[in-house]
Amino acid sequence: MARLFDGKVAFVTGAASGIGRATALAFGDEGARLAIADLNEEGLAETARELVARGASVLHQRLNITDGAAVQAFMDHVTGEFGGLDCAANVAAIQGPVGQLTELAEADFRATFEVNVLGMWQCMRAEVRAMQARGGGAIVNVASCAGIRGFARLAAYTASKHAVVGLTRSAALEYARQNIRVNAVCPGFTITGMIAAAGDRANIEAAAEANPSGRVALPEEQANAIVYLCSDKSTFLTGQAIAVDGGQTVQPAQPPRRQQ
Ligand code: NAI
Repeated sequence: MARLFDGKVAFVTGAASGIGRATALAFGDEGARLAIADLNEEGLAETARELVARGASVLHQRLNITDGAAVQAFMDHVTGEFGGLDCAANVAAIQGPVGQLTELAEADFRATFEVNVLGMWQCMRAEVRAMQARGGGAIVNVASCAGIRGFARLAAYTASKHAVVGLTRSAALEYARQNIRVNAVCPGFTITGMIAAAGDRANIEAAAEANPSGRVALPEEQANAIVYLCSDKSTFLTGQAIAVDGGQTVQPAQPPRRQQ
């Protein structure tokens, strides 16, 4: 039976863990040849092994997405080996500093933008160039619900994810006539390494309780949305930021408590 990405080449950043790994595996299961990158070499090798075990062809490279020359060099290698690029999922990011605006350290604020915005732009630039040579393609940037609404004590991350949505919308307009679609997925609370590192069980339970669906997401649920937006099932969909959040961003505000 034909699969969604038979004959296609997909690039995934942040593929060592969490949503990025789930996305790489989902692409592989649908027939794509994979180029995967991450700072975490060990996790990346594990993802590559899993992909090969499932029958996919894989190129993997330890890569810091803030290094534009290294990103372009890997893309050149990938297009040389695989003949081009069709799909890209830009998943790598960091959470950045937690605390009120006045408490944040400048270096931490800069680092958050360096990875989440500048790094993403450098990946998009290399991907667009490769897709222009191919005559089209689809890019999905992973933002966050924090790309759509505010989150107290997460100003740097929230601002960076709003910027990801901005990059997505602008690039969608610039390349629509070149058959390159650009969309964003905005995950709600998803059980991954980032969350486990940041948080305690109580936090996860509180997020599940506050969610209209009464639970948090699995990485595979985010991966499904990402591969859909990269596939030929979404050919008229571009410039969108789609929340995959169990309804978190559309729930009505709580009515104000009556004063006694
Ligand atoms: P994760 O921490 O499991 O994965 C992020 C990956 O990015 C890691 O493997 C890390 O090594 C890699 N990375 C970080 N900086 C890098 C750099 N400079 N160069 C290359 N790779 C780098 O996190 P998770 O949860 O899978 O997050 C994936 C994406 O989903 C991120 O963009 C995150 O902001 C977003 N997201 C996650 C949510 C969640 O609840 N887990 C909610 C909303 C958004």
